[in-house]
Amino acid sequence: MTPSLITVSYLGAAALFILALGGLKDNETARRGNMFGIVGMIIAVLVTIAAFVSNKLEILIVIMVAGGALGFVLSRRVQMTQMPELVAILHSLVGLAAVLIGFANFMDASIQFTGVEKTIHEVEVYIGIAIGALTFTGSVVAYGKLSGMLGGQPMLLPARHWLNLAMFVAVIVVAIKFVGEPDHQQAMIYLLIMTAIAMVFGVHMVAAIGGADMPVVISMLNSYSGWAAAATGFMLSNDLLIVTGALVGSSGAILSYIMCRAMNRQFISVIAGGFGTSGGGSAGSSIEGEVQTIDTAGVAELLSQAKEVMVIPGYGMATAQAQHAIADISKTLIEKGVNVRFGIHPVAGRMPGHMNVLLAEAKVPYDIVFEMDEINDDFPDIDVSIVVGANDTVNPLAQEDADSPIAGMPVLEVWKGQTTVVLKRGMAAGYAGVDNPLFVKENTRMLFGDAKESLDLLAKAI
Ligand code: TAP
Repeated sequence: MTPSLITVSYLGAAALFILALGGLKDNETARRGNMFGIVGMIIAVLVTIAAFVSNKLEILIVIMVAGGALGFVLSRRVQMTQMPELVAILHSLVGLAAVLIGFANFMDASIQFTGVEKTIHEVEVYIGIAIGALTFTGSVVAYGKLSGMLGGQPMLLPARHWLNLAMFVAVIVVAIKFVGEPDHQQAMIYLLIMTAIAMVFGVHMVAAIGGADMPVVISMLNSYSGWAAAATGFMLSNDLLIVTGALVGSSGAILSYIMCRAMNRQFISVIAGGFGTSGGGSAGSSIEGEVQTIDTAGVAELLSQAKEVMVIPGYGMATAQAQHAIADISKTLIEKGVNVRFGIHPVAGRMPGHMNVLLAEAKVPYDIVFEMDEINDDFPDIDVSIVVGANDTVNPLAQEDADSPIAGMPVLEVWKGQTTVVLKRGMAAGYAGVDNPLFVKENTRMLFGDAKESLDLLAKAI
């Protein structure tokens, strides 16, 4: 393959990746965005193989087929609610790949640089392995926390900030020793020491982050995996890997920032860890007031009088797979002349866009689905809000209790509406482990039971 053909193909793939990101910003264009990404990746892989693989192609094909088949099976099996875990474990693989490529590159005797070029190459190898190692172990811990294998509570070692600082300084000191070390074996020892420190750093950093802040961690690790890939691109002098890594790195960083804003968190405080530690009382323990229950006939009666209805979906809608049931109910109400809207909190569910994906699957029209900022001021005009398995994202404690783990997180102010109906199975707390005074408010009615079963009954009642 000629160098100019490789460059043109890489440029085409990079352009497709940018179009993919652009498409993913909107429900309506997301499918097309995905297609751009798939085509870009196919071009990137085929051109790279054609351009750089001159022998042992059969090994590569066997590994690609095995990896592809595994990925295919896993992606077919994974539930929507397990997506964050899948994303976390995939990030860990990117990190591991960066580490392995870094070591392979360092051990490759055919790569012979001198002078400044040698120094630059060593720095690239060092940075690539460092970011890769912390992404690898950090993502494995994130996977453990999200899947419930490890506890959701933050692990807060005494003097943890000093420990982080000490590890950071150690990585810099070892870097100074590594770069320019003439003895290859000694340099390898420095590299191994740094890798071990970076791995411990990754574990410590993510282990210290509380459950409520895990969404930010996932997108932060996404960003790290991008930077690890970009560093690998520099190492291998591969322009496409640099561009793609930078796209993933910067979009992950922007997403982390947006999510921090949605949860009223300082990015740096999330990284430093410790949020989500206090206030996670047992279900219902600190709520004062009486729970008022309602049955489906009662909700149907309320809805028959309503002109303005707001549906607030949360994680419980995903676990109950109640999106089709609520979509059918909203359709019936719209046909009866009711103005039905859906209000989506930016971190509702367990991954960015989780609710939007489910509602799109259930064919809820995009133009009645609104972001929190667009509809939060409208609640005083709402006759009935139907909260389907949401909890933290509608918790007034975020505004009322400065010590709560969700303190300051913007929430959907459903309680300002006339009547709120909350669908959940019992009085259990949400993801952040915080009690929710919404459930005992004067104008709240609890419809206990699995959200799908309740909504199926409600659909019949209306
Ligand atoms: P949550 O606060 O997680 O609450 C979900 C509620 O759904 C639970 O209280 C549960 O109560 C109820 N539920 C579970 N299964 C149900 C079922 N089958 N039928 C009816 N109800 C059911 O949900 P949320 O308001 O969506 O908040 C999301 C939380 O997850 C936030 O704290 C956020 O920070 C965190 N988080 C978000 C993300 C992203 S990026 N979205 C990623 C990780 C973590 P019962 O058990 O009593 O039914």
